Amino acid sequence: MMKLGSQIFLALAILLLTPLAASAQVLPPFSTWQNQRTSTLNVGFVNGNQFDGWFINRAAGFQCQNIPYPATGTILPNGAITFVVNFTNCQTVTTWKGRVIGSQMPTKWVLIYKGVQRLTGSDLFRKL
Ligand code: BTN
Repeated sequence: MMKLGSQIFLALAILLLTPLAASAQVLPPFSTWQNQRTSTLNVGFVNGNQFDGWFINRAAGFQCQNIPYPATGTILPNGAITFVVNFTNCQTVTTWKGRVIGSQMPTKWVLIYKGVQRLTGSDLFRKL
């Protein structure tokens, strides 16, 4: 039989750790996501609400293709996701915001070129 103190400690631990585990469940560590332009996001570690990984751009009409760039982002237990890639060779930073819904991730992105020019669009990622 557990003592009351241990039971309270266990309950608190479960309450605190559940949201962290939930984030990793919606965005599995070491998962690969491909968008309709055939670019890929390779998720690495998911640590709480934060994740890292690599993004390879293969989109027609864009520069900096077929080079892995570091990606960093946040993922919430409700699936809300944001990630950023700095395409250093192209002086471009792109931010994607969207939602993980099962094996799909609809996003909207904002691309900033040379800190001034702004381009927007949508990407639908699917988990491979
Ligand atoms: C550049 O051309 O300046 C750098 C590459 C930008 C690629 C963009 S980011 C948003 C969109 N989705 C992709 O998969 N690639 C393009």
